[in-house]
Amino acid sequence: MAFLSTQPYKGTRDFYPDDLQIRDWIFSKMREVCASFGYREYDAPMLEPFELYAAKSGEEIVNQQLYWMMDKGDRKMAVRPEMTPSMARMVAGKIHELPKPVRWFSIPNLWRYERPQRGRLREHWQLNVDVLGADPLYADAELLTLAFSMIRKFGGEAHVSIRVNNRRLMDELFGKRMGLSAENTLKVTKAIDARPKIGEEKYAAALSEAGVTDAQRKDLESFFSSSLEKVATDFPCAGSEELVKLFRLLEESGIAASGSEAKVVFDPTIMRGLDYYTGTVFEMFDTSPENNRAMFGGGRYDNLVGLFGKDKLSGVGFGMGDVTLRDFLETHSLLPKMPGTVDVFVSLPKEESRGQAERIARDLREAGLRVITPLEVGGFGTQLKQAVKHGARHAVLFGDAEFAEGKVLIKNLALNSQETVAFGEIVEKIRG
Ligand code: HAM
Repeated sequence: MAFLSTQPYKGTRDFYPDDLQIRDWIFSKMREVCASFGYREYDAPMLEPFELYAAKSGEEIVNQQLYWMMDKGDRKMAVRPEMTPSMARMVAGKIHELPKPVRWFSIPNLWRYERPQRGRLREHWQLNVDVLGADPLYADAELLTLAFSMIRKFGGEAHVSIRVNNRRLMDELFGKRMGLSAENTLKVTKAIDARPKIGEEKYAAALSEAGVTDAQRKDLESFFSSSLEKVATDFPCAGSEELVKLFRLLEESGIAASGSEAKVVFDPTIMRGLDYYTGTVFEMFDTSPENNRAMFGGGRYDNLVGLFGKDKLSGVGFGMGDVTLRDFLETHSLLPKMPGTVDVFVSLPKEESRGQAERIARDLREAGLRVITPLEVGGFGTQLKQAVKHGARHAVLFGDAEFAEGKVLIKNLALNSQETVAFGEIVEKIRG
């Protein structure tokens, strides 16, 4: 009989305890930063009606990446590929009760049928942070400030750039200036978004298919290298005005400065692959060429909550994936050595000492320490090795002579020191 494979499904990961400890450490930092800005955590089901994504998520996610199924009641269901539609549904469901602005975050696992590669898997976890129902630019600025604080929390601020653009500015350029239809605008947007992946030849072909002339393509190129000041002068419109104001707010928040120090920069090539963005859009990149995938992406959406009823609420948010973040932290040696998970190993040399060993273990646990016992009788050397292997900081060892006097030997495995201690003083000694 052939054995079953020990490998997880393609594009997914098992989290052995060492990996889960790292994931939990990452999530706890994320939670700390979100809480420090007053954001509250929410969650939603992993299965949603298919239409939730068909409405706004965009062609790539819906037609190529969605995992979907028919349930036994003949309902077409999808496994969530992103959290934003569920969040919008939840906000719409209690739109009048929720205190505004709504400041929420979540860390869901998401599924996308992708070709697995560095930075892209079929299942990933994604921190989602969103704020709805506030002055749009103040909210955009807060969210970008939070995103920057997030990366600072991991010690990575020297290795990232956050690139910001505005969909309205691009609509002005593509629609009014270049005369493209909405359909062709979408095609051009997708081609610019995919340019690093598809290469120059396919990019040029996609543009000409969308009705962009060679001369217009040249103009686009010079637009892409323009400063915000130049764009604001050449393209006065709501989009460029919003960008100018946003950068002023970001300077006040201390995260955008002019000159080479800037961490948040204007980048007119940022489009975002999802269809629901209507204003500010942004992505964060690792400056190391090893990691060329965006570490997070997001933007403003005006028309999502309105899908669920007549009340509208504009919002802005971002998603930051755990796969790219872990690559980033490893590339820049920002992952600390994880702390041990066991404080004390209480040995068991003989069956007769088990009662006393269990009492000691119980007292230590009640004092808040993490204690393991060997679950089998064994010699001093073997048990000491076990204690070391499990990463215990202390081992409680029973010698015959000490035991007879109501004492044990406590070994500090980190310092490699030891002392004899009476049963009643063990907790105090170990807690220090
Ligand atoms: P997204 O750009 O599709 O946006 O994903 C955001 C981030 O999730 C990416 O920058 C990347 O770090 C990570 N990510 C996405 N797909 C994968 C994958 N297959 N494997 C590994 N990591 C991945 C959204 O999903 C928006 N819903 C974000 C948002 C929240 N917009 C507003 N609020």
